[in-house]
Amino acid sequence: MLKVFVLHGPNLNLLGKREPGVYGHVTLEQIDEWLKQEAQQLQIQLEILQSNHEGILVDAIQGAKGQYQGILINPGAYTHTSVAIRDAIAAVDLPTVEVHLSNIYRREAFRHHSYIAPVAIGQISGLGTDSYLLGLQALANYLRRSPS
Ligand code: DQA
Repeated sequence: MLKVFVLHGPNLNLLGKREPGVYGHVTLEQIDEWLKQEAQQLQIQLEILQSNHEGILVDAIQGAKGQYQGILINPGAYTHTSVAIRDAIAAVDLPTVEVHLSNIYRREAFRHHSYIAPVAIGQISGLGTDSYLLGLQALANYLRRSPS
């Protein structure tokens, strides 16, 4: 069975309470539940990790090689700052989909650049929780078309 690693970056643990005007009222637990339901439909296995720490995310990505066939990541603010997360994704060379709840291109200029996008197979931004679900579907489709 295909195995996908879902990574949530910093501050996403605060979803539901954090800037609801931008991110909505849905909690991370709810998003994880929907992702698990979607994974069942898609017949894939999920492992999910949230961390506020860049190094923990880098370690998790390094450890994904050989364990998972793909990565679904919302790198949060590290999207715009982390060469280390980008390099980890490039190093493991696993198909990775980048997702964002908000449309990063409609927001402040510093959010318009993603260090992750060039090493991702694609990016979904601005569709709220659908960004995650559509990202998972797209990743599953990609992995089925071109298994590693
Ligand atoms: C985010 C967008 C980032 O710019 C921000 O720092 C986040 C969340 C999103 O899902 O919309 O923490 O990744």
